[in-house]
Amino acid sequence: MIKLSRPNINDSDVAAVTDVLYSESLVQGVQVKSFEDELKAFISSENIVAVTSGTAALHLCLMELNVGPDDVVYIPDYTFVATANVARVVKANIVLVDVDLDSYCLSPEAFSKRVAETRHKYEKAYVIPVMEFGCPIKSVDISAICHSENIEIIEDAACALGAQSDGNKIGSNSRYSCFSFHPRKTVTTGEGGFIATNDENIAANLRSLRNHGLKPDDKGGYCCEKAGLNYRLTDIAAALGRSQLKRLPDSLQTRKQLAAFYYEYLGSNKKFRLPADIPGHSWQSFVVQLPPDRLNLDIIKKMKDKGIETSIGAYSLSLQPAYASLDDTELVNSKHLARHGLAIPLCHTLCEEDIKNISTSLINSVEE
Ligand SMILES: Cc1ncc(COP(=O)(O)O)c(C=O)c1O
Repeated sequence: MIKLSRPNINDSDVAAVTDVLYSESLVQGVQVKSFEDELKAFISSENIVAVTSGTAALHLCLMELNVGPDDVVYIPDYTFVATANVARVVKANIVLVDVDLDSYCLSPEAFSKRVAETRHKYEKAYVIPVMEFGCPIKSVDISAICHSENIEIIEDAACALGAQSDGNKIGSNSRYSCFSFHPRKTVTTGEGGFIATNDENIAANLRSLRNHGLKPDDKGGYCCEKAGLNYRLTDIAAALGRSQLKRLPDSLQTRKQLAAFYYEYLGSNKKFRLPADIPGHSWQSFVVQLPPDRLNLDIIKKMKDKGIETSIGAYSLSLQPAYASLDDTELVNSKHLARHGLAIPLCHTLCEEDIKNISTSLINSVEE
């Protein structure tokens, strides 16, 4: 079976983890600190706060901002459910926004329209643009409207470690940029994530919130200033991440090459619409759009019969029971992607021949 993706684990990763296991320092110690420093250098961010998952990263940002029931969070409808779940658990109001069919990310036009329709109803407003599948959309595209309407941006860059916009890594200059180390990401720690922020105070608050809300007091001890959670990353996970981070530049290069092969073998076939080849994409996943008369769930079964694992790309939140009560009138692209978007294999073990065969199998599955 050709797998959709595989974690890229080698003997150095295993040795790094084993060393930590014998070191007797397992939780948020030297490894986490070094990992944060190395991520800081890689991204050119001023502050990195490691946490237990991408979801934890998003949740901590909303907690740091005191987002609550009087507030609104604008969220692209096509994403992983975690993007909206964190807004729901802090009891914020959610407004779903349609996405763009080239980038699969928040559509600036749809966002602008939804803001005009709804912003006046709420005290504070936030938007969580998602860098879907590693696409480095620029918050700049929505920053003018966010500025004029006083909307804070929290980037969901869960899939976008190493992605670049105009030569700058995503997370290099934002107040809240959240990343994931889930095994389907380009660097994995099993479970893990982090927040990149250019603001020293935000970083200090996030560090406190990930550790139960504890902060150093003036008597040399700690006090709990604000209720926090335990979102501390382990040193075991950080050691694995540090070892993997060394290979990230090569891995990004490999993924870019594999994506180029998909453009070569599928690009001229009119049945498919491929994602826009946006410079600086980190290609966490490669998601194609099937013809409107072909459902992704049917093609997934056909591909499985041919020995190839594929999956849906992401969810349309409005089609999920948890979000069914939200206004879903203008989410046409998102719903289209939820039904016709297909993630096809992209992982370091594949070569040009594999991509050619996967492409041929996909064309056959659609034509059968
Ligand atoms: C867009 C997006 N946001 C958030 C998350 C949540 O990250 P994690 O699985 O690390 O909690 C994911 C994870 O897959 C994701 O794809």
